Amino acid sequence: MSIFENPEHTNFDLEVSSPGRINFIGEHTDYNQGFVLPTAIDKRIYLKFRKNDTSNCRIYSETFQTGFEFDLEKELQKGKGWENYILGVVDQIIKLGKKPGGFDCSIQSELPVGAGISSSAALECGVASGLNELFDLGLSKMEIVKLSQKAENEFVGNNCGIMDQYASVMSKKAHLIMLDCQSMEAEYIPADFRSCKLLLLNTNVSHNLAESEYNTRRKECEKAVALIQKDHNNISSLREVSPALLEQYKDLLGPVIYSRCTYVLQENERVVQATDKLRKGKLKEFGQLMYASHEGLQHNYEVSCPELDFLVDYSRDRDFIYGSRMMGGGFGGCTLNLIDEDKIESYIEEVSKAYYQEFQINLDAISVSPDAGTLITKKEN
Ligand code: GLA
Repeated sequence: MSIFENPEHTNFDLEVSSPGRINFIGEHTDYNQGFVLPTAIDKRIYLKFRKNDTSNCRIYSETFQTGFEFDLEKELQKGKGWENYILGVVDQIIKLGKKPGGFDCSIQSELPVGAGISSSAALECGVASGLNELFDLGLSKMEIVKLSQKAENEFVGNNCGIMDQYASVMSKKAHLIMLDCQSMEAEYIPADFRSCKLLLLNTNVSHNLAESEYNTRRKECEKAVALIQKDHNNISSLREVSPALLEQYKDLLGPVIYSRCTYVLQENERVVQATDKLRKGKLKEFGQLMYASHEGLQHNYEVSCPELDFLVDYSRDRDFIYGSRMMGGGFGGCTLNLIDEDKIESYIEEVSKAYYQEFQINLDAISVSPDAGTLITKKEN
C-alpha cells in the first residue's frame, strides 16, 4: 500500500517542479571545462513535500507506484536504483553541515528514464530545492547545483559533469544557456527558432555501455591532459589545449586518445560558433553545426550507436529539418531535431515506420520547448 494512501497524507506544504534538459551542442565538453548550450524543457518531475516531525523520511513515486523510507538518525544505506539520487542529495546536505528533519515526499514524473534528458538531475535538483525550502537550509541555487552533481558522483557513482544540474536549476523560459564550464559564467540566449520547433526522437534503447564508456572517456581526456601537462604545467584541462599544441602530441597520445581530444577541441569551437549563428538568426548554419557535432560524437568520440545514427541519417537532406544530433552521454536515448513546425506530424509518422522496420523498436516522439529551471510553489498557511 502506498505510504500516501491515507487521506491525511494528501496535505503537502510545498510543491516543486524540476525539469529535464536538452543540449543543443557541446556534448562531453562540460567535464573538460569547455562550453555547453543546454536549457531546461517543459517536461518535468513534480514533487510534493511536507515535514512529518519525526526523523523518518518517506518517499513515494506515484509514477512507479513504489516507495522507500529511511531514518535520518541512522547511517544512510545505499539502495539499488532511483533511491540513490534522493539519498545522495540528503547525504550531501548533511555533509554541508545542514540539518534537515524528517519529511514525506511524493513524486510524479513526465520524464522518460534513460532517454538522455536527465531525469536524474531533475530528481536530484528537485529534492535539493524542496528540502532547502522546507527546512530553510539557506542554500544558494549554485550550491544546489553543485551538491546535486556531487550526490550523483559520490552516492550514485556516475562521474557526470555539471551541465545537467546547472540546466535543471538555472534555466530561463524561452532561453538557452551558453555556459562556460571553466569560469561558470553563463549567458542566456533567446531561443528564437522562428518556424521551427524542437522534436526529441527517443530510440527507446539505452545500451549498458553508457556508464562504463562515459567514465572511460573521462579518463582518456584526463590522460591526455596529464601527458601534455608534463611539458606545460599551466595546462589543467583540454579547454586550454590549442589545436596546434594537440598536433605536437599526436604520436605520443596514440590514435584513440588523439581522436577523443580532437573531438573535444572541435566541439568547443562549434558551441561558440553555434551561439553566434543563433544570435544572428542563421538557423541553417546552426543546424549544420548540430550535424557536425553528431559526426564527431559518432566517429571521433565514439559514443553514438546504430539507432541514433539511423535517426540522424534519416533526417539528412530534408530541407525542413535544420539540424539533428544525439544528445547527452550517448549509447541510446534521444536525438534532438530542429524541424519546421508544420512538418512535424508527417515526419514523425514516416520516421517511426522506418525506425520500426529497421530495428523492430517503437520510436517515441516528444515535442519540447525551452522552459524555466526548478520552480517552487509554497502553500500559504
Ligand atoms: C551526461 C552527463 C553530463 C554531460 C553529458 C555529455 O548527461 O551527466 O554531465 O557530460 O552526459 O555531454
